Amino acid sequence: MEAIVRMLYEAAVRAALVALERNLLPDALVRRLTRLLLARRLRLRLGYQPTAELQLEELVRFSRVRLKPMPASRVKAQPMPAVGLITSFPLEDMPIAVDTDKAKSQHYELPTSFFKLVLGQNLKYSCCYFKEKTSRLEDAENAMLELYCERAQLKDGQNVLDIGCGWGSFSIYVAKKYKNCEVTGICNSSTQKAYIEEQCRHLELPNVEIIVANISNFEMEASFDRIVSIGMFEHMKNYKELLKKISLWMKEDSLFFIQHFCHKTFAYHFEDDVTVLNHWLLNGSHYARTS
Ligand SMILES: C[S@@+](CC[C@H](N)C(=O)[O-])C[C@H]1O[C@@H](n2cnc3c(N)ncnc32)[C@H](O)[C@@H]1O
Repeated sequence: MEAIVRMLYEAAVRAALVALERNLLPDALVRRLTRLLLARRLRLRLGYQPTAELQLEELVRFSRVRLKPMPASRVKAQPMPAVGLITSFPLEDMPIAVDTDKAKSQHYELPTSFFKLVLGQNLKYSCCYFKEKTSRLEDAENAMLELYCERAQLKDGQNVLDIGCGWGSFSIYVAKKYKNCEVTGICNSSTQKAYIEEQCRHLELPNVEIIVANISNFEMEASFDRIVSIGMFEHMKNYKELLKKISLWMKEDSLFFIQHFCHKTFAYHFEDDVTVLNHWLLNGSHYARTS
């Protein structure tokens, strides 16, 4: 019986995805389904709490402590069989990142020609900042890249690490603007590295080095004045281990700037081996206009 329910569920999800990709579902339905799926995930993992504060407490507990596995009777009642597993693995017990090959085949090793069609001229693959209603994507890319420099307190002459550098939007922006900065980018895609290196040759930027590695198992003996990570933490599971690793690449006065998307109330507080000095919120309308 369980197998039949699972088959039906998977078939329904496949059909919904095909309809979604063909743009056959009205926006209102897509939003409704997204909310239902997210609510279901939260409910299954944590149980709804009566107030936002209690819900946040539960979420923090989920990220930090081993939860009791769900009773078998409750697991069986759910159509998704993985639920029992999810609840018994808090983030701290997971590797830094999982299923990294999947994200590579879905996005990061696709031909760059595709991203040239769908992204702005900096190939920024993350949220841009639309200062004005009339801002174009290129303006919004540049406005956001400039905001990162300001918020990370970047200065010429610093050495900068860009973790999850994509097609080099931030690395190249910094290398162009601050000629005495040495920029190191890390990504897990040889396609991205090839594109950035080609751009750096074209723009005559000798101050960029790109390393292809999986951040989960990558080690290096180096330290940086500024470390930035834009849109990569969404791929990560064990933030504690990752922050421990990153903190070893920081000096006493280094700063680390992260951009990640989050729920406005249930944002994770990245305070493992680092101290949060400041944080900023940008509402989702900027990402909606970016993509
Ligand atoms: C959403 S893209 C953001 C790219 C870039 N920061 C930007 O704003 O355009 C995420 C980046 O993280 C990298 N990434 C994802 N998982 C990774 C992993 N396990 N190790 C190293 N890089 C990873 C991807 O290759 C990609 O460059």
